[in-house]
Amino acid sequence: MEVTATRLIDQARQVRQRAHAPYSRFFVGSALEADEGRIFTGCNVENASYGLTVCAERAAVFKAISEGCREFTRIAIVTGTEVGTPPCGACCQVLWELCGNLEVILANMDTWIETVQLADLLPRPFHASFS
Ligand code: THU
Repeated sequence: MEVTATRLIDQARQVRQRAHAPYSRFFVGSALEADEGRIFTGCNVENASYGLTVCAERAAVFKAISEGCREFTRIAIVTGTEVGTPPCGACCQVLWELCGNLEVILANMDTWIETVQLADLLPRPFHASFS
């Protein structure tokens, strides 16, 4: 089943409304496209201890893995900023290991849409064969 970038962005915008970000007030939504057109969404979930916060991108990928998905193509990430914001380093690392060189769609709540490859955001990743 074909999933359009618009649909992916729309899903990321919707789940962003569920973000639990009382500390940063920085609300993020993401929608990860898996095989067979399945979409897994995630929002950031903060914690009073700050360090236990989970980013929207990791929430989405952990949901997908938990549901048995292993093949991924794209992720849309939506923030309420003027321009799209890339995933943090931790999320890039996790996405790289679990999803490979994803297409990353950065969007905001307005008209900003930018597409980059994960390999360009994380040019020299650590991976299991090093250890
Ligand atoms: N955040 C994400 O959800 N994704 C990112 O890639 C960057 C940061 C969240 C974590 C925290 O809840 C808030 O944004 C501010 O850093």
